[in-house]
Amino acid sequence: MSINLPPLSSGSQTPLQPQTWNNQSSSKVIESKTIVYGSEVMKNLMKVIERVAPSNANILVLGESGTGKELLAHAIHEKSSRANKPFVAINCGALQESLLESELFGHEKGSFTGAINKKTGLAEIANGGSLFLDEIGELTPGIQAKLLRFIQEGELYRVGGKEPIRVDIRLISATNRKLEADVAQGRFREDLYYRINTIAIKTPALRQRKEDIPLLINHFLSSGSHAFLGRGRQVSEDALKLMVNYDWPGNIRELQNICERLQILSDGHTIMVNDIPENIRNPQTRIHMDEYDPSLALHELEKRFILKSLHHFNGNKTQAANALGITIKTLYNKLHEYGEFDKFAVYPKGEI
Ligand SMILES: Nc1ncnc2c1ncn2[C@@H]1O[C@H](COP(=O)(O)OP(=O)(O)OP(=O)(O)O)[C@@H](O)[C@H]1O
Ligand SMILES: [Mg+2]
Repeated sequence: MSINLPPLSSGSQTPLQPQTWNNQSSSKVIESKTIVYGSEVMKNLMKVIERVAPSNANILVLGESGTGKELLAHAIHEKSSRANKPFVAINCGALQESLLESELFGHEKGSFTGAINKKTGLAEIANGGSLFLDEIGELTPGIQAKLLRFIQEGELYRVGGKEPIRVDIRLISATNRKLEADVAQGRFREDLYYRINTIAIKTPALRQRKEDIPLLINHFLSSGSHAFLGRGRQVSEDALKLMVNYDWPGNIRELQNICERLQILSDGHTIMVNDIPENIRNPQTRIHMDEYDPSLALHELEKRFILKSLHHFNGNKTQAANALGITIKTLYNKLHEYGEFDKFAVYPKGEI
């Protein structure tokens, strides 16, 4: 692979200048909402965003886990005329069907055991603004039908409610699933698919835009949550080469986690080759099931395997579910079953 690595330190001759897209409509810059890029593929994508954001079109953001789908969804909202109204995000894969319905549409007092008070749903809270449905591919048929009716009519019913409530939202959805295949196999309604997908945009995997890697590393080391430590502000050329060569299956989220870890662990100003984790230095080394035990019951083996995967991905459930080839919903169900849900409930940021 031959790509020009812009040095991260100053004094370079022709460094690739990062472009940044400040997502905030106000003058206050919130770093975590800044989109850093320099690659052609991202420049083109940002042009598309610029064009589609002001429209009212429903947008489907497709892309692998950790590629910045939520960040882009937020950018679309901020560049729209709805920017001063709420941007409300909900992870459709994180909740059981009945809970999701009342989160999304709200419920009337006494509509089910435990409904002590009336609850306003997130779709209603988003009125006038944008509703971001993350992991939309995980919606059950029941909720798919209710969502379709809501999009078509512009009205929703709270659980247990008789009166329709008019709500005006712009829908932005995201998934890392191949939704077309789900439609073909009857798992996702075709009519709903066309409603949510007036315009589809795809976030490219980090391995398809390697020029962005040095820019992103620089960004995370200089403005990440541990930049204040004053250590690990730079990466040596050899260490940077390793990081550029690595394929980043967890994409930018994985890169961000590694930068944070490198910065905390580094003992000098510059991150060196020896600081780089083994799996990035030698990506061909596979994780072995070192404690293979032929007497283990299958469900116990499954549990250990799932927890191992979660630890490997630093608790990132989306990445673990992808690697395991199961839906995030199945992963949540398994964690509930093992009594391990709470342990992994708070990571990563942005997941419910
Ligand atoms: N171009 C970028 N510049 C700076 N930070 C970025 C960029 N893209 C993504 N990030 C950061 O990477 C992390 C992952 O992004 P985000 O949550 O938007 O991805 P996602 O595709 O929604 O991931 P998942 O599928 O895991 O939910 C976030 O912390 C986000 O701020
Ligand atoms: Mg996301």
